[in-house]
Amino acid sequence: MIKNICCIGAGHVGGPTMAVIAEKCPDINVILVDNNKDKIDAWNGDLNNLPVYEPGLKEIVKKVRDKNLFFSYDIDNAIQKSEMIFIAVNTPTKINGEGAGMAADLKYVISCAKQIAKSAKSDKIVVEKSTLPVRTAEKVKEILINEGNKNLKFEIISNPEFLAEGTAISDLYKSDRVLIGGDNSKSGKKAVDLLVEIYKNWISEDKILRTNVWSSELSKLASNAMLAQRISSINSLSALCEKTGANIVEVSNAVGLDKRIGPEFLKSSVGFGGSCFKKDILNLVYLCKHYGLNEVADYWHSVVKINEYQKNRFSKKIIKELNNSGNNSIVLLGWSFKKDTNDSRESASIDIACELLNAGIHIIIYDPMVSDDRIFQDLSMKKVNVKSKKIKVVNSLTNALKLSNTVAILTEWDEFKDYKWENNFKIFDGRNILSLTQCYYSIGRSYEN
Ligand code: NAD
Ligand code: UGA
Repeated sequence: MIKNICCIGAGHVGGPTMAVIAEKCPDINVILVDNNKDKIDAWNGDLNNLPVYEPGLKEIVKKVRDKNLFFSYDIDNAIQKSEMIFIAVNTPTKINGEGAGMAADLKYVISCAKQIAKSAKSDKIVVEKSTLPVRTAEKVKEILINEGNKNLKFEIISNPEFLAEGTAISDLYKSDRVLIGGDNSKSGKKAVDLLVEIYKNWISEDKILRTNVWSSELSKLASNAMLAQRISSINSLSALCEKTGANIVEVSNAVGLDKRIGPEFLKSSVGFGGSCFKKDILNLVYLCKHYGLNEVADYWHSVVKINEYQKNRFSKKIIKELNNSGNNSIVLLGWSFKKDTNDSRESASIDIACELLNAGIHIIIYDPMVSDDRIFQDLSMKKVNVKSKKIKVVNSLTNALKLSNTVAILTEWDEFKDYKWENNFKIFDGRNILSLTQCYYSIGRSYEN
């Protein structure tokens, strides 16, 4: 039985996942570590200001913090104390070197493997929780064997995470499946069994899937690619709806009622965002190219290209209308990449804001959860001059609506859906949350004559 685990990476995956393990397994001590001291201080600080916002998370942290869940930046100590170590660090798209713009950057994972090799004084089971290109476990093992103490045994298993932000806690409570990939050796199987025992505290065994390591790594990339592909498929059809007078909400409903297709993930939108879909698909494209599968690479690349097209299509509609009306400003509602999260990584709002600014339009931004600092940081990363008078970030919906009567809904926050909209607003609904009669333009529901 495992008694002590640690997780390197106290972010959107490490935080909620370890909180739920600590809650469901009171006999296991869980240490969550990160090399970002501010983040660890925040995890140890005010419950209303935890670094990750997820419905239900602060209640769990309140219950288990300092009982069997600890947050620390003493990574070496946590490694030494734990029999099982999860790696849940970020794996962004590479910026430089071979595969730049496509391949996953494994530098953080590699540095964790090196740190485990350096600090470990007893056998360790290392669990890959981060999303990784297929065959990464091989590299991790190589580092542990070459750089670690030769008398120690290291087992590497793959256990990708499928939670979605905004619903992380309920996803973790009732996962559709838990995937564990391990070696076929006796010690490999034992390591998998030990992880299965942990999950069995709240997940029924029939939902726990055992595969080989490579299937597990690839299944994670494949799942994200298939999910994103559904959104790009429905978004591509939204453009056709606008030309023909069909209504994308009706089409999506009709298509999704076929049990073989299903209703989930068929909501047309301003484009998918989030830290993973784009990076994971580009990673898949890179892998396919690496193995000479150019047609397969092109197929998956088109999912990302349609997403760029969809964001751009929406910006162009706004720019055209504002140019025609002589109005020069717009309220952008929503900065997070979906509702119920404070995460704005790869949010469609960022690209749309930049396109509008480039067209000389003044933007007023309001989001109920994303901080002003984060919004300005996102814009500066796109080389926008954040001191420009063309940008205002405001702290309430009513204050935002005082500044322009043209509005674009970019995130589906309930606050925007429930607001009592008056007729004097010209609304571009990028999430189809309002009725058609309330909107000036909405995705796949506005007929172009
Ligand atoms: P994140 O950026 O929120 O958190 C990663 C954390 O790792 C950061 O706090 C960072 O400081 C820390 N870190 C990086 N290198 C470190 C090191 N060497 N030592 C200690 N700490 C280090 O990232 P995330 O969203 O939690 O994603 C983590 C992984 O999980 C990624 O591979 C991602 O693809 C995958 N994933 C994410 C989600 C999601 O919804 N965000 C869901 C499933 C899988
Ligand atoms: C996604 C997957 O859903 C998770 O299973 C996966 O674990 C995770 O990526 C990951 O690997 O990071 P997440 O990105 O957090 O989760 O959120 P989603 O609910 O998938 O939404 C992604 C984007 O697609 C959002 O911008 C959302 O608004 C958009 N979306 C979603 C649509 O436009 N239409 C839909 O029908 C569904």
